[in-house]
Amino acid sequence: MSIEADDRWAMLSRAAAHLDAPAAVLDLDAFDANAEDLVARADGLPIRVASKSVRCREMLRRVLARPGFSGVLAYTLGEAIWLVRTGTCDDVVVGYPTAEPGALAQLCRDPQLAGAVTLMIDSPEQLDLVDAVVPPHRRPDLRVSLDLDCSLRLGPAVLGARRSPVRTPEQAEAAAEHIVARPGFRLVGVMGYEAQIAGVADRRRTGPAARPGELIVRGMKALSVRDLRTRRPAMVEAVRRRADLEFVNGGGTGSLESTGAGGECTELAAGSGLYGSHLFDGYRGFRPRPAAAFCLRVVRRPAHDVVTVQGGGWIASGAVGSDRQPLPVSPPGMRLMPAEGAGEVQTPLRCTAEVPRIGDLTWWRHAKAGELCEHVDELHLFHDGRLVGAVPTYRGESQVFL
Ligand SMILES: Cc1ncc(COP(=O)(O)O)c(C=O)c1O
Repeated sequence: MSIEADDRWAMLSRAAAHLDAPAAVLDLDAFDANAEDLVARADGLPIRVASKSVRCREMLRRVLARPGFSGVLAYTLGEAIWLVRTGTCDDVVVGYPTAEPGALAQLCRDPQLAGAVTLMIDSPEQLDLVDAVVPPHRRPDLRVSLDLDCSLRLGPAVLGARRSPVRTPEQAEAAAEHIVARPGFRLVGVMGYEAQIAGVADRRRTGPAARPGELIVRGMKALSVRDLRTRRPAMVEAVRRRADLEFVNGGGTGSLESTGAGGECTELAAGSGLYGSHLFDGYRGFRPRPAAAFCLRVVRRPAHDVVTVQGGGWIASGAVGSDRQPLPVSPPGMRLMPAEGAGEVQTPLRCTAEVPRIGDLTWWRHAKAGELCEHVDELHLFHDGRLVGAVPTYRGESQVFL
């Protein structure tokens, strides 16, 4: 059962009535069903969990215990070290380059850590930086993965994330050759994430007529899939000429099908689809259940059709736009007011249907999945119509990595 339907929200309000808001709730049934959907969409490829989109060790453990999930894609080296040391996971790939001397020194001091953590690199400079912290002869070999640029270029336009400078098979082979020749490093993997497919919604409106904007996005995605169908396998093959790879990682919640279909990836990455944050409502091929939500209490009523809740301004990262605001979902018919938006301390809402009373709970969904956990110490777990416990977020364990 999920907390999507209106009566689910009402049930949640009853279950959470005793909580002081703001409080975050995770519907375990929806979480598990979302995990199952991701595995089905991955069609046999294992999914490495993108931990930035989870930020709760207990939920990472829960999903890693399911068939179809294997390993963590972490977002900083400090986080990766913590996950290994706490026994959460013994196969952690840091999905982004590291330049932090303290964390690198810790990794170099501990052979067990060095065997469990893979660094992401895309340039010799990052290797120089590691050597400057601890030279190769004074550390165990470090596992590294090469990040490949999977953005789409249309003339001067770059569609996708500005990440790696490695974008051709020739560049990939040269980079692999360089890493293999460097003492103290072992090239074990390759990653190529296509943000312009995985992270861009292509369905903003229900109904038969697509808007021109949607058609452009769909066209862009189709072009990008076609580009990657040849370019990513060619880059991977070029790297394989120089190193035996343990893994080739690609994709995200929004692209599992197209990434897997290419055939060159040995594993996929996904995280956001577990919590079902609202930016993932706008995809044509799938619809995660809204498993994570938070509640805010009504504290005043400035007009007959306006209520004000305490808090609200949990804005998501990324290019600034109204889609980064949290979405009020229950009671139905509440709208943020453009002049104020979701406020730092309080948020007014225009009510077009039911008008909640002072003291009532309102329910919200964050735009992004893991960022919700930066605002709360725990996730209250909802199962079978009641709250069955709570688990700490990273923040609740005093761990803040970014
Ligand atoms: C390297 C990488 N892989 C995969 C993902 C996909 O994560 P999610 O499934 O949470 O969208 C991301 C998200 O930004 C990423 O940066």
